[in-house]
Amino acid sequence: MFNKKTVKDVEVENKKVLVRCDFNVPLVDGKISDETRILGALPTIKYLAEKKSKVILCSHMGKPKGEYKLSLSLKPVAERLSELLNQEVKFISVPEVINDDVRKMIESLQPGQVALLENTRFRVEETKNGEVFSKELASLADIFVNDAFGTAHRAHSSTVGVTEFLETAVSGFLIEKELKFLGEAVEKPEKPFVAILGGAKVSDKISVIDNLLQKVDALIIGGGMSYTFLKAQGYSIGNSLVEEDKVVYAKKMIEKANEMGIELLLPIDHRISKEFKNTDPTLTKDANIPDGFMGMDIGDMTIGFFEELLLSAKTVLWNGPMGVFEFSNYNKGTYAIAQTLANIKAITIIGGGDSAAAVTQLGFSEEMTHISTGGGASLEFLEGKVLPGIEALNDK
Ligand code: 3PG
Repeated sequence: MFNKKTVKDVEVENKKVLVRCDFNVPLVDGKISDETRILGALPTIKYLAEKKSKVILCSHMGKPKGEYKLSLSLKPVAERLSELLNQEVKFISVPEVINDDVRKMIESLQPGQVALLENTRFRVEETKNGEVFSKELASLADIFVNDAFGTAHRAHSSTVGVTEFLETAVSGFLIEKELKFLGEAVEKPEKPFVAILGGAKVSDKISVIDNLLQKVDALIIGGGMSYTFLKAQGYSIGNSLVEEDKVVYAKKMIEKANEMGIELLLPIDHRISKEFKNTDPTLTKDANIPDGFMGMDIGDMTIGFFEELLLSAKTVLWNGPMGVFEFSNYNKGTYAIAQTLANIKAITIIGGGDSAAAVTQLGFSEEMTHISTGGGASLEFLEGKVLPGIEALNDK
């Protein structure tokens, strides 16, 4: 998976290049609320345009399940890209994604011009990796470039199927960068290597914990998933989020970390609330949460405890917030971790999804070494899985 050709290894001048991007960006009232993924795709698009390729972009947006939904059209992305590239990004919105009008639009592209296809998931075959749609996509271009790291864990027509019908299939700069940072962090980290895992569910991160325990010097667990681990250690957790069927697993992981000599840090105090609202927080005195309350964020002693360990780290990988950071009264833990990572002299890698959103929202994105654009994709990568969208590309 690490030895794939990139866009720099092939001749792209005057060629029609189909680029799979991940433009699955959040929309609020039809407006893009976080354009990180669009910005992430720009280096490849600009490179191809400068090299005088005819650039045909494609992506999915949301889960329309084969239905044409205007609310999931890529039109806002075409408009934003036109601004960012300082040239019109040609776009036709049709339910079938590719029709004669779209073909004509692509045929009329001049070297250096850019077009965007409509949401690939408007076609029901897309998520089934259907051959007909894969062939149609391939018929538009001479070369395929995958730069959709966020969708690399999906074997769909526009990520995998298309590569069966286009001999040249290489990665873009974003995938190259993601593999470099996530890959090096996990495979040859500068030590001490500390991973911070948070977020709501243990079950989402089971394989990540298993895989990371083989690589890290210390593991910090905070956020919603920490209550299952605390319960496994016999603490009271009140009404906090818990996955009862994962308590035994959590216990095993704590024992495994002990046997391997890996420090596993859990919260030692909490910000708690009686309801899941932006209430005035109550601080606990220790790791126990009284009946009638639920854990919402890590407490001040925990922040200090986690920070102390992070100060000596040389590589930090962070995936998942420390609390309900969407509530202003419960974002202190997530904020403090982001601030610590911004200040320490270490390689700081932020796994995508919620932790990336939190770091961006809290204003620390510039300070991190790398923020992944993948949510599910970065998790699967951290689990040690092969990502089909990358595996399908040409080897060097
Ligand atoms: C994501 O947002 O994680 C990617 O765009 C993949 O989307 P999906 O989970 O709908 O396949």
